[in-house]
Amino acid sequence: MDMETTANGLQIGDVAPNFQARSTQGDISLSDFRGKWLVLLSHPADFTPVCTSEFVALAKAKERFEAMDCALVAVSVDSLYAHFGWISAIRQGLGVAINFPIVEDPSLVIGRAYGMISDRSQDASAMRSSYYIDPHGIVRAITTYPATIGRSVDEMLRIVAALQRVDKGGAVTPEGWQPGDPVLLPPPLDAHAASGQENDPLWFYKFKGSSE
Ligand code: BEZ
Repeated sequence: MDMETTANGLQIGDVAPNFQARSTQGDISLSDFRGKWLVLLSHPADFTPVCTSEFVALAKAKERFEAMDCALVAVSVDSLYAHFGWISAIRQGLGVAINFPIVEDPSLVIGRAYGMISDRSQDASAMRSSYYIDPHGIVRAITTYPATIGRSVDEMLRIVAALQRVDKGGAVTPEGWQPGDPVLLPPPLDAHAASGQENDPLWFYKFKGSSE
């Protein structure tokens, strides 16, 4: 596995570090996904209950991500051998094919570059993090959950949809926004925007109507 950068403590707005690595669907590079959205998700360990529940839900939702031109790639420190054993167990036991690649990162190179491994952790397992990467390879959102709490696939879909809506321009998305809901006007860049608005206490809070 080769890395192009070794930046750590990745933040929103950074270029997502490229990597080439082995996965359950063959060798992949992050750059293979340029031109489409990608959710790169780390998980603490194969053969664990929370991760299994997430992967089953993600596999079932893959078409909903694809409808937004968004791919899924998972990564953990487990070996490719372990990944294959785990997805085979899931297929046999739950009848679900894990239909997105799971990358092996036994040397922790990807985990360290993305900040998936906590400096304070007792072991080298990755945190339950998700990196939302846009078609230009820029990290647009990051979430991190503890190993004991599973992510919400509906929320992951909502984040991709909201990022795509914001990229259309002219709007920001309110709390709990879902595709089709009204959006908000962005905060004004002009520091004098409030002047002349004395009769409107909510001059800073305007819905724009349907998001479509
Ligand atoms: C889990 O996926 O169930 C899990 C993984 C690591 C620690 C605790 C739970």
